Amino acid sequence: MARLIGIDVGTTSCKAVLINDEGVMIDQCSIEYPLYTPQPGWTEQSPEDWWNAASSCIAQLGEYDAIGFSGQMHGSVFLDENDEVIRPALLWNDQRTAHEVREMEAVLGIDTIRAATCNPPISGFQTPKILWLRNNEPQNFARLRSVLLPKDYVRFRLTGEKLTDVSDASGTGLFDVPNRRWATSLIEKLELDPSIFPRSVESKDLPGAGDQAAAAVGVGSITPTIANLSLGTSGVVFASQDDAACDPHGRVQTFCHANGGWHSMGVMLSCGGALRWTRDTFRFRDFDEMAREARQSGATTAAFYPYLAGERTPHNDPELRARLSGLALSDGRAETAAAVFEGITFALFDGLRALESLRKSPVSRLRATGGGVRSDYWLRLISDAFGVPLDAVMGEGGPAQGAALLAGVFAGVWSSLDDACQVVRVHRSFEPSRERNEVLAARYATWLEDRPRVE
Ligand code: XUL
Repeated sequence: MARLIGIDVGTTSCKAVLINDEGVMIDQCSIEYPLYTPQPGWTEQSPEDWWNAASSCIAQLGEYDAIGFSGQMHGSVFLDENDEVIRPALLWNDQRTAHEVREMEAVLGIDTIRAATCNPPISGFQTPKILWLRNNEPQNFARLRSVLLPKDYVRFRLTGEKLTDVSDASGTGLFDVPNRRWATSLIEKLELDPSIFPRSVESKDLPGAGDQAAAAVGVGSITPTIANLSLGTSGVVFASQDDAACDPHGRVQTFCHANGGWHSMGVMLSCGGALRWTRDTFRFRDFDEMAREARQSGATTAAFYPYLAGERTPHNDPELRARLSGLALSDGRAETAAAVFEGITFALFDGLRALESLRKSPVSRLRATGGGVRSDYWLRLISDAFGVPLDAVMGEGGPAQGAALLAGVFAGVWSSLDDACQVVRVHRSFEPSRERNEVLAARYATWLEDRPRVE
């Protein structure tokens, strides 16, 4: 029996799983580390903490045949000529680089950036962080010889080799996504030294991927027909593509996928987070009680727009705020809960529609993971609203599970990623009801009309 480890260098903790060649989890380990916010909107972590947590997890899981890596994307580990970390890493959700995003737009031009990288420059991406270092900490920038992504730093500490994979490199903002290589001319135009970036390889050759691509592998979402939904605090709609078609409106991100193709994904910021807010604000005992009351609620015109923390897809507006509207005297907390479940589902559907606008054929099946898959009520609602069959995949692993599958392909345990994904087990499935789909389509149309306007 092969022993395959997958590591996920997450934002709150490093998670690792040990699986066998039937995809069965033998053991797992998770070690937390601190997140530093030295100023409002800044987020940093110590790469040494990542390494300590990852190496302890690997030691705890014992012997292994191959190891795969995934992790939070977009972060910057700055290394000097002795490969010492120069300063704490800036993370994917750090918001300090608005000025550097404008600098990229001014030097390169937004159309050139989009054509080369498939995405607009985004403050969370890695490149604005490098420019921030140059603009704000020139002594540190003078020492800079390499910049690595979080999972690639951990891999470097383990193997001594600086390498990245195409899925994670896509989130730097200077990667030529259609051609799967560094956008060297853009790097040079920004007067950065191309040698600071590690060599990039396909994900199966690292082996590893950025956390979203790895999570997609972990649930078997590697063909254009099977999309996946991650129902956590935030919600992600993710679909594979045969080409690098990207959204001219910048509503969704298009990156290289771990399967040798591409993917696009929409991210909504308050998904499970909006459910938690509703549970706590309306004093439901737990999510089960909230779902039960929502299922038994009366007819209502209540509508909820889940923009509690601004929104990425499709609005890209950090200032946007949530709205609960259309309430009548007959509405109580049950109707409110029903409106919240429905509003979150419609917001996810916005993401799917944006993804589908880039594709020749619609998504024909969805796989869902994350805490939300515990709720049959919600999964059925999603399936009915989207008009698409939905499978719940219960694996605890997430990105770590995908990294372990990539490790198995690397080690020859499976002949291909397709082969590896055969071990993914579906827990339960939901078929959409045509009747409910028609009702929900009409409600979605009304929801769209009343949606807070985005200029
Ligand atoms: C992907 C993204 C997050 C981070 C942290 O674009 O921002 O998934 O990778 O998990």
